[in-house]
This record gives sequence, C-alpha cells and structure tokens, in this order.
Amino acid sequence: MASTHIAGPYTRVAGLGRAVPDRVLTNADLERMVDTTDQWIVERTGIRERRILPEGQATSDLAAAAARSACQQAELPVTQLDALIVATITPDTQAPATAVYVQQKLGLSQIPAFDIAAACAGFVYGLGIADAMLQSGRYKCVLVVGAEILSRITDWTDRTTCVLFGDGAGAAVLTRAEAGQGQRLIDVSLGADGAHAAQLEIPGGGSREPTTQTTVEQRRHVVRMNGRQVFTQAVKNMSAAAATVLERNGRTTADVDVVFAHQANLRIIEGISQRTGIPLERFFNNIEKYGNTSSASVPIAMSEAVEQGRLKRGDLALLTALGAGVAWGSALIEW
Ligand code: COA
Repeated sequence: MASTHIAGPYTRVAGLGRAVPDRVLTNADLERMVDTTDQWIVERTGIRERRILPEGQATSDLAAAAARSACQQAELPVTQLDALIVATITPDTQAPATAVYVQQKLGLSQIPAFDIAAACAGFVYGLGIADAMLQSGRYKCVLVVGAEILSRITDWTDRTTCVLFGDGAGAAVLTRAEAGQGQRLIDVSLGADGAHAAQLEIPGGGSREPTTQTTVEQRRHVVRMNGRQVFTQAVKNMSAAAATVLERNGRTTADVDVVFAHQANLRIIEGISQRTGIPLERFFNNIEKYGNTSSASVPIAMSEAVEQGRLKRGDLALLTALGAGVAWGSALIEW
C-alpha cells in the first residue's frame, strides 16, 4: 500500500531481536507427564512444542539476550539506550523490577529501567508507553522487551493449562526518527476490563494472599484459568482493538499486509480472522514452535517475520494482543 508521509519526528521500530531457550518440550513429552495426547493439543491449540529455560537462569537472562540482538539489528550500541522497559508477569524477583537486572546485564547504569505487568498484552503496552516517551522529546532511544519464563508459574499437573505455555523473549529498539526512514509506529490503542480479572490469575504470593505454607500446598502460585471464557474474551477484544486502531487511522482491513496476533491458540487466531475478515494467510503464526509465551509472543513473531522476509519495507503490520486482566492492545506499524 502507499506510504503515508509524515513530517517531523516519529517513533521508529529501529530493530527487533529474540531469544528462546534451546530445550524443546514436545507434545509427546507432555503425554508422559499428564493425561493428554499430541492430537488433542494440536487440534485444540495448534501447538506442537515449546521451549523451556534451564534451572539457574531467569527472565532477565533471556530479556538481556533479546535486547542485545535488537540493538545489533538496529546497529545501535546498547549505550545509546536511554530507557529500558520490561513487560513480564514472571519477574526475576518480587522486587526490584526485572528491568534493573537487564540494565546490569547490558552493562548500563543510570537510565530509567522499569517493568510493566499487562500479561500477554505487555509488549503492546510497552510500545504505547515508549511511543509517548519518545514523542515527549525527552527520550531518543527506548528498549521494550517482552520476556517470560512461564514454565516457572505453570502447574505441570494441570493438563488444561500446562500444554499451552512456553518460555521466550522478544525485544524492540524504538527511536525518535526523522520522516522517511521506515518502520514507523503509526498508533497504539490500549484497553483493559478488570471485570474479567478472575478468569486468569496467579492468586497467591501478592499482598492479598501472601505466601504461606498453605498457599504453597494449595498451589496458589501457579496459573489458574477459565480457558473457555478467556478464549471468548480473546477473540472479541483482539478483533475490536484491531478495528479501533485501523479506523482511527483511516485504514481498513484490506490495507493490512501482515497481522501479528498474540500466539495463544491457533483457534483464537482463526476466530479473529473470521471476525475481522482479514484472511488467515495474512497472519504470521509460529505458535506450533513456541506455544504461548505471553508478552514475548508478538516480538518473537515479528523478529522471525523480518528474518523470513514476511514483513517487508512498506508493509502495513497490525499487532493485536490480549492477556490476563483482561488487558489488550493493538498497534499499527508501517514497515
Ligand atoms: N488433553 C486432553 N484433554 C483435555 C486437555 C488436554 N490437555 N485439556 C482439557 N481437556 C479436556 C477437558 O477436560 C474437557 O473434557 P470434558 O469435556 O470431559 O470435560 C475437554 O477437553 C474440552 O475442554 P474445553 O476446556 O472445552 O476445551 P477447549 O476447546 O475450550 O480448549 C483451551 C481448552 C484451554 C485450549 C482453550 O479454551 C483456550 O485456548 N483458551 C484460551 C487460553 C489462553 O489463551 N489463555 C491465555 C490467554 S493470553
């Protein structure tokens, strides 16, 4: 589609990176752990395998690796970064923010570093925050990382959730750029509806239910989810958020070249395709390899799509994600 020429500084996605652990956990492996089958998992979710981080490593390790790879692709030394945002629901520690560990691992100091918790919509939330920071003129180069070690908050005895999740990190370097350089972040639209908070939560370990022997025994520190309700919310809100961001920028679904929908379930993505009328072929999917990596799923997919030539200069990319909260977000990028 035709490029839109915008005068003045804009937010540019200058580089993307990703990091996933080497260890693969297949559906066949899961068949030996819980009462499930490869056929059920593939038919109901589209997932064939996921990655698992070895013990001893934490979210900041994957986040730092993804951050370095994004800076490399942007051809910017990490010392150029002037803010660091980590989207995660699996922080290294309860406090401080994982972003400060990432800052240390990148050999940086002084720059602001903070986490945001918007679950699977976290990366898109991060884009929205970084965009506002850059547009304020006070920042020139902001790193947004979505990083999750979901294997550490998964109940490996619960077949209704453990087949879904995986570990990984994806990152984007955003810069304040002059017109004409490409990769323009056009807009970000965010939303949330706390009425659905109980549908997907980790109830224990917070201020409401501090960790005790009882909370541990009752498995209150792992993901609890009403899968069917989350499914419905996901299709509805990811489609609506996509429509909002298109409409307010004078674009239609016909203008969209590539869709990066949160990789939660292939059937959810099919539902979004049906609801929005965007053909499934325009969705870039890699859920079969990684499962649901929460905030990391959209940037991992984008990073792979660029590498595979699926996201090309001039393409209009639509991002849409939803997670616990429920919180959702959509973004438009003219690559
Ligand atoms: N293997 C085999 N059977 C399983 C199973 C598994 N891993 N998990 C559930 N089942 C069974 C259920 O127990 C149920 O059996 P029953 O009919 O005897 O009660 C049956 O399969 C159907 O369960 P249901 O929950 O209706 O399946 P579903 O088609 O809704 O798929 C999810 C379940 C979890 C895959 C689906 O609801 C989903 O993806 N939801 C969204 C989850 C999500 O994306 N969460 C994160 C959002 S960011």
